[in-house]
Amino acid sequence: MLWRIFKYIEHLSHLRHRKGHGIHSPYLFEFIDRVVFNSEGVECPRMVLQEHRDLKNNVTITGGEGRSVSSFVLGSSVSEKYGALLYRIAGWFGPEMIVELGTGLGISTLYLASGSPGTTLHSIEGNTERATIAAHLVSRCNLGPVSIHWGEMDEKLSDILPLMPGRFMAYVDGNHSYEPTVRYVRNLLDRAGEEAVIIMDDIYWSRGMNRAWKEVTSWQETRISIDLFHMGILLLRKDLPQARLKIKF
Ligand SMILES: C[S@@+](CC[C@H](N)C(=O)[O-])C[C@H]1O[C@@H](n2cnc3c(N)ncnc32)[C@H](O)[C@@H]1O
Repeated sequence: MLWRIFKYIEHLSHLRHRKGHGIHSPYLFEFIDRVVFNSEGVECPRMVLQEHRDLKNNVTITGGEGRSVSSFVLGSSVSEKYGALLYRIAGWFGPEMIVELGTGLGISTLYLASGSPGTTLHSIEGNTERATIAAHLVSRCNLGPVSIHWGEMDEKLSDILPLMPGRFMAYVDGNHSYEPTVRYVRNLLDRAGEEAVIIMDDIYWSRGMNRAWKEVTSWQETRISIDLFHMGILLLRKDLPQARLKIKF
């Protein structure tokens, strides 16, 4: 915890690209201004926010760990602010497929699927009870071509990888440790075209997760990395100059 606080202070002291200032690429400036900082005021559908809030107040015990839905949502699910960011990123890129590693209760799934309606979304979750709650959420909200795959991440990901087009959006939010995280991102990058976008959650959650972020951002293919502290965004377009951005979001 202390380490995270220290890292956050360090993050704030290294900011050079507040609100996109100092970014020379017009494409990247537009992404930061419109998508990250939402300069056009895009709003998530009320239904998405309502479902999120309902789950936040749900005290039913679930997940086999004696934990309530509410405690899982507050401690492990995406916040409204970051959910809305996922919604805008999905809407902006309009990917041909969305892949989510770590469904949880389906909250991030809800934001991603609503951001790009009609896009096939595959989401993987290893906990049966959570996967069931997420599947109910998906059908209740009529989210379209969304599949929740219950099982071990590596196994399910290897089933999905061959189906993935180059222009995908991936959200990596499961199994928060160094080695599996690096492996998932490596596998995703091996399928990726230049138009793919990969988002890693909790890049300062632990030393291991931070090491994973540093490692993937040292690779040539990850042309642009945007460090928002709670999330990291990787863009792969080769026509853009390499950039490593830290932003206070
Ligand atoms: C942080 S939660 C996901 C939260 C969700 N993305 C959201 O924001 O609403 C991570 C999830 O990954 C799942 N998970 C972790 N390791 C896994 C593994 N090896 N295989 C499958 N699922 C795994 C956990 O069961 C947990 O529900």
